[in-house]
Amino acid sequence: MHRLLIINAKGIVQHGRSHVVRGKDMAELPILENGWVLIEGDKIHSVGHMDDVLHAPANEVYDASGRFVFPSWCDSHTHIVFAGSRENEFVDRIHGLTYEEIAKRGGGILNSAKRLQQTSEEELFDGAMMRLEEVKRSGTGAIEIKSGYGLSYEAELKMLKVIKRLKQSSDLTIKATFLGAHAFPAEFKENRKEYVDMLVDRLLPYIGDHGLADYNDVFCDRGFFSVEETDRILEAGWKYGLRPKIHANELDFSGGIQVGVKHNALSVDHLECTGDEEIDLLLKSETMPTLLPGTAFFLKIHYPPARNMIDAGLPVALASDYNPGSSPSGKMSLVTTLACLYLKMSPEEAINAATLNGAYAMGVMDELGSIVPYKKANLFITKPISSVGYIPYAYGSDVIDKIVINGRLQ
Ligand code: NIG
Ligand code: FE
Repeated sequence: MHRLLIINAKGIVQHGRSHVVRGKDMAELPILENGWVLIEGDKIHSVGHMDDVLHAPANEVYDASGRFVFPSWCDSHTHIVFAGSRENEFVDRIHGLTYEEIAKRGGGILNSAKRLQQTSEEELFDGAMMRLEEVKRSGTGAIEIKSGYGLSYEAELKMLKVIKRLKQSSDLTIKATFLGAHAFPAEFKENRKEYVDMLVDRLLPYIGDHGLADYNDVFCDRGFFSVEETDRILEAGWKYGLRPKIHANELDFSGGIQVGVKHNALSVDHLECTGDEEIDLLLKSETMPTLLPGTAFFLKIHYPPARNMIDAGLPVALASDYNPGSSPSGKMSLVTTLACLYLKMSPEEAINAATLNGAYAMGVMDELGSIVPYKKANLFITKPISSVGYIPYAYGSDVIDKIVINGRLQ
């Protein structure tokens, strides 16, 4: 079996623990200084200090002097299967239109849906594969991908089939989420129930029976899906074992956090509008609050109250929300920069949120998110840098030098 030995690392980051990191603990990031990591096959075999005796022959040795070894980012919220870009809407917003105004006149998600419906499965696959390669080079080792630009029976299945093929073809760890309830198609605006019926009675049973999704998502917010509609879709998903991971409280205090927690969602995401009531509910739940500062940055909306959440004892995860409308970037190191600047998180808190807590938010904490024996060897190695805080600080630089995916140095 292939054995890769990384030696002389300035620091092995997030070693030795594998649990959700919450509240005050988020400020603590375990770093083993002057360490080595032995990888056997696609798994981490052992981790130690350079003074420890190591009796393991390796086929490949990498000298990481001056460098930090990180567990790969776990990006728990993306929409990377899409057709075309939307810089025209970016320009509309520069000229004063809001994201919601653009959506109301048929742009936004409906604009992406129209294009996706006209694009072949092959072309969608190629585009998404390119984005996967791009995020892999920037340190992402696990990624969740949503449907939600199909918005018809056929096109939602087309997206989920593309995600299934990505799972088979990419060496990244991928989870698939069904987001048929992303927006109401124009032809259902006056008959919303008929669209929700289609999701619940036709799409979810097919997806459940064919194993096309791991999770179930709804955009529960002002102008999109109501709490009642969300409740129905989440309940229907559970019949097929699909745990919710939902978009909530981006545009308003929508009740999305409440309905997500009610259905034991794995995560509730966005959360720009979160008050004490929502924080109290989350504290009593197993639902991961997931923040997407790239979206608040790009849409120029206010940021979620991350400090209140963490100071109240909650964990938070960070994800990119990579999509063509509200966050056209999957660069997780930039997400940590935005978290430090605008969510007032420390670099250590941001790194915890983008690794272990992100892994929890996509259901892969047992295999990814930290450098622990028997976990999958998905890692990145930095260039020589002074401290881990250099990653969020040097927001324009490519600080990552090498990646290890499934135990292979790339
Ligand atoms: O997470 N908020 C809802 N959905 C996406 C935006 C998708 C789009 O604009 O295309 C999001 O931000
Ligand atoms: Fe999203």
